[in-house]
Amino acid sequence: DLNICIVGAGGSYTPEIVEGLLDRAEALPVRALGLTDTDPHRLEIMAGLTRRMIAARGARIAVRAENDLRAAVADADFVVTQIRVGGMRARAADEAIPLRYGVIGQETTGPGGMFKALRTIPVMIEMARTIADAAPAAFILNYTNPSGVVTEAVLNHSDARMLGLCSSIPTMQQRLAHLLAPRFGDIRTACIGLNHLGFIHRIEAHGRDVTADALAALARLDTDEDPLFSSALRTAAVLGALPVEKYGDLYFHRRAEVAAMHEAPRTRAQAVAEIEAEVLAEAADQCVDTKPEALRRRGGDGYSSVTFDTLDAILNDRGREIVMSTLNRGAVRDLPDDAVVELPCRVDAQGAAPLPAGEIPIAFRGLVQAVKAHETLTVEAAVTRRRDVALQALLAHPLVGDIDIAVPMLDEMLAAHALDFR
Ligand code: G6P
Repeated sequence: DLNICIVGAGGSYTPEIVEGLLDRAEALPVRALGLTDTDPHRLEIMAGLTRRMIAARGARIAVRAENDLRAAVADADFVVTQIRVGGMRARAADEAIPLRYGVIGQETTGPGGMFKALRTIPVMIEMARTIADAAPAAFILNYTNPSGVVTEAVLNHSDARMLGLCSSIPTMQQRLAHLLAPRFGDIRTACIGLNHLGFIHRIEAHGRDVTADALAALARLDTDEDPLFSSALRTAAVLGALPVEKYGDLYFHRRAEVAAMHEAPRTRAQAVAEIEAEVLAEAADQCVDTKPEALRRRGGDGYSSVTFDTLDAILNDRGREIVMSTLNRGAVRDLPDDAVVELPCRVDAQGAAPLPAGEIPIAFRGLVQAVKAHETLTVEAAVTRRRDVALQALLAHPLVGDIDIAVPMLDEMLAAHALDFR
């Protein structure tokens, strides 16, 4: 019998996971669901909705809301981590401050992602050590952003068994399979890179490499309705590989992205805070016993399907291929072994092992290596709390790369987040 725990269960994605779990109730013998959060009020609301959703579907899953992490994870087989250190207020600063320097303000990429990592890594390492101690066999499925950086920190600084999950590439893979099926039949897609800097660089049909034909076929499809996809395709026409949607544009259409952020009436943090308030209001309504309507406006589709595909592959020792973040261990030749990379992995009862991925195509190899160096410096800065290392990390990010900007921005962001680095 399975025991799952959600850390950060007061977050608005909890009903998405609960719905996914109920949809698979027959295949997955989940008997207990532990919920924990540092905010007791939000925890109580989400625990209430979770119980109503379970009852409405006639499932028998015992829900336990715990304020204490150790108690919550005690018997867990899987722990889903989805925390946000500093909440939406900190996210708003991460998005607003870099923009004033003409640099992208985004919560996972660039200076915003770096500061989210600096706040989050110490908390996640501590939490991972507690989980490794209280439930040593448990797998941690991490969604806490920046997911790849957090996963690198935890895997190199604790004994926890963490898998870094993200729905971005798996969602693109599904969409490609659907769009290309009429012309190519069943396809297999492979990607290489980092979380939020991944590239789908190989498309195979019946064992044959059809990447160039498939990209050309996609370009001919009418993707006007789908601006994210069409901007990725424009980049793909140059690189020969599709960059991850939305996040790829932050690098390859950087000036347009900065301009759009300047023009936006509010930050994404403010928009998400509003949606979250609506999700919580719906969740608190005793008559609501399904996933809140407002959550549709948030995005993050495919979140629960990646979670449960992974869970199923581990539980049933399937050896299934799933894209996720894990230690490189030689899979990508151009990156260090202890760097976390996002790659197709073989997932079975032992966990996830990255499949050999070879070399990163030279057209974007340098970019990936530069961002990886930035990420590894960020982990070191978070663990040592050293200002000189933090400055190197910020400067190393390809979207910064300017000392005259990096120095004042670092000081402003350290002060805004009350981080005492020396
Ligand atoms: C995608 C990204 C996640 C992100 C999520 C929600 O799924 O891969 O990293 O957390 O979108 O983004 P939002 O801006 O709504 O918080």
